[in-house]
Amino acid sequence: MERTFIMVKPDGVQRGLIGEIVSRFEKKGLKLVGAKLMNVSRELAEAHYAEHKEKPFFGELVDFITSGPVFAMVWEGNQAIAISRSMMGKTNPLDAAPGTIRGDYALSVGMNIIHGSDSPESAQREIGLWFGEDAIISYEKTV
Ligand code: CMP
Repeated sequence: MERTFIMVKPDGVQRGLIGEIVSRFEKKGLKLVGAKLMNVSRELAEAHYAEHKEKPFFGELVDFITSGPVFAMVWEGNQAIAISRSMMGKTNPLDAAPGTIRGDYALSVGMNIIHGSDSPESAQREIGLWFGEDAIISYEKTV
């Protein structure tokens, strides 16, 4: 079983897309094991996006992610990371296929609605950063 960190970004929250996004993940069969609506500190945003620190858009990215509440989640399931990424679509919505979350709802790479971990290492790091093991709920999914 694999876990992944998924976040509805401030544009997705503002546009009322939390329910739509949660619904897609639920219907796919993934299991929600952590969720919270929260404001993001600059410290957390900078730590989360540390790998982009040298990129020209880093400041803009941190400004955006701290601009309003995000909905942070942890989803669990077989191949949860790859499946979530295929459901989200390509990072740049111009390249994201219709039917994917970014393909259906986003227009720009900066405001692309959703973030998801890109590898098992990122997932572990991001879940630790945003939730910590204690905040993850373990339960059996029987259907
Ligand atoms: P995300 O999956 O959250 O991971 C890094 C983010 O950087 C990415 O989604 C984009 O929203 C953002 N990003 C990537 N390229 C650019 C860019 N050229 N300008 C602004 N933001 C970008």
